[in-house]
Amino acid sequence: MKTFAAIAVAFTLCVAAPPALAHGTTTAWYGGQIAEIAEGWRIEFAVRDGAIRAWVRDHDEKAVAATGKVTLLVGGKKIDAAFKADGDSLVAEAAVKSADKVAAILALTIGGKTVSARFSQEAVVVPKLSAQALAGKQVFDEICAICHGTALRGSDTAPPLLHPFYTPGSGHGDDVVLAAATKGAQSHMWKFGDMPKPEGLKPGQEKDILVYIRAMQAANGLTGTSSAPAAATAEHGGMPMDHSGHMSHH
Ligand code: HEC
Repeated sequence: MKTFAAIAVAFTLCVAAPPALAHGTTTAWYGGQIAEIAEGWRIEFAVRDGAIRAWVRDHDEKAVAATGKVTLLVGGKKIDAAFKADGDSLVAEAAVKSADKVAAILALTIGGKTVSARFSQEAVVVPKLSAQALAGKQVFDEICAICHGTALRGSDTAPPLLHPFYTPGSGHGDDVVLAAATKGAQSHMWKFGDMPKPEGLKPGQEKDILVYIRAMQAANGLTGTSSAPAAATAEHGGMPMDHSGHMSHH
């Protein structure tokens, strides 16, 4: 009980990790959040369906071996899970979904040192969808979700689309989403590899998917700049960081 209370306090103090590209130098490889820790090490963190993934890299972006565990707070429940090495990542199986509100404390041993890092994410909000967005959701769930996740938060095979990179007015606007849906995409942002041309999409359905993705992004605070030009001018300073982060990437 005592430990739990202490952890609960720690969680309330928990500050979300900065956006992956806040400085334009530290890049997420797999669509996760990044925390800089001791010794110039950085941890990328992502919540998957059924597991937590973490990657530890040094300041040269080289993978570094680590062991340890993660303590999660999910839906008021505390879960402890041990990390196992899996390729260039650590994986800890846990009763968690990428759509969940999650707070996490990672306790890792890296190069003989014990370090910890905190991450958190909000629950994905599913808005009331228009008929077109609903049609888009159906196609998305059938064809795209296997990689991008039903919650649009990505998976081990594809990036999250609920991400500043893919909002309207970002470097990846409507045309990029429509092109990806119909033709696929060459790997250029992450380490997932290429997106193959999706199979089974009927002509026009890519527009429904776009409407669905935009509705999901808007409901989750990712409005971008082009959907509300007036607000964008008034609130300058909101998105340019993401934009420059993206630009520095090409
Ligand atoms: C087999 C897995 C897979 C499927 C299925 C898939 N994608 Fe992707 N998608 C990817 C990967 C991998 C990337 C990342 C490419 C990169 O590194 O920029 C990606 C990137 C994207 C991008 C960004 C494209 C760009 O040019 O930056 C969009 C938008 C996208 N996907 C939408 C969709 C939609 C819509 C569907 C369904 C019609 C879909 N994806 C189906 C794997 C997939």
